Amino acid sequence: MPETKYGSRIYLGVLAEADAAGPTAVRVYQDFLGRLRRAAPGVKELRLELEEPAPRKETPGVYECWATLKAVVPHDLTRDGAGNHRDAWRAILRDTFQATCQLNHELVHHTSSRVEITREVFPFEEEARAEAAPVEETPKEMIRVKVLLGGQVYDVEIPKDENLLDGVNAKGVDVKWDCKSGVCDTCQIRVLKGMENLSPVNDREREMLGDKINQGYRLCCQVTAHGPCEFEH
Ligand code: FES
Repeated sequence: MPETKYGSRIYLGVLAEADAAGPTAVRVYQDFLGRLRRAAPGVKELRLELEEPAPRKETPGVYECWATLKAVVPHDLTRDGAGNHRDAWRAILRDTFQATCQLNHELVHHTSSRVEITREVFPFEEEARAEAAPVEETPKEMIRVKVLLGGQVYDVEIPKDENLLDGVNAKGVDVKWDCKSGVCDTCQIRVLKGMENLSPVNDREREMLGDKINQGYRLCCQVTAHGPCEFEH
């Protein structure tokens, strides 16, 4: 089935104090992502990239929380009243986002929040980027990572200070992910060794994992590793 990658811009206005704006936005976006997945199960590789919240000048007490959503949409996606998969995706996005905002009305500034497809990400765009990438001249320092997954043990080397999820995925270790933004918990892991070699726990991990942080749980997509470690997934 042919498919097209779409990028969408989402603007969420949250009603919150400065220090709560980020966690509030994560909560609402997490809810949105879950609803979207249920509304369009055939859409793959949903990925949400959140930006830092900023105070909205015209509306004190509201924080602007922009995000970019990427998705791979199959051409057989349908929706009542939509003539093609793009219109269907647009309608699903709009309706799901509106429903999410309504259900979280105590947290969301409804009049300014919106979502729209902004562009199609054609395959050649990604190929062009890959071609333009600079050639690595100096070999990267590597670190050892051991992963317990599905009853198997993987022992791989990944570049130091690389994102842990991307690093092990690139070595064929299939740690699952959905958003790579810390809002879905699909990539949840439990660190067995080498926690001291990982980047500090961030706000999104605290929000998603709560007390599990104390038992060694992390969100793999939010972690970089500067030394050896071992984890299970
Ligand atoms: S992939 Fe969603 S939290 Fe990591």
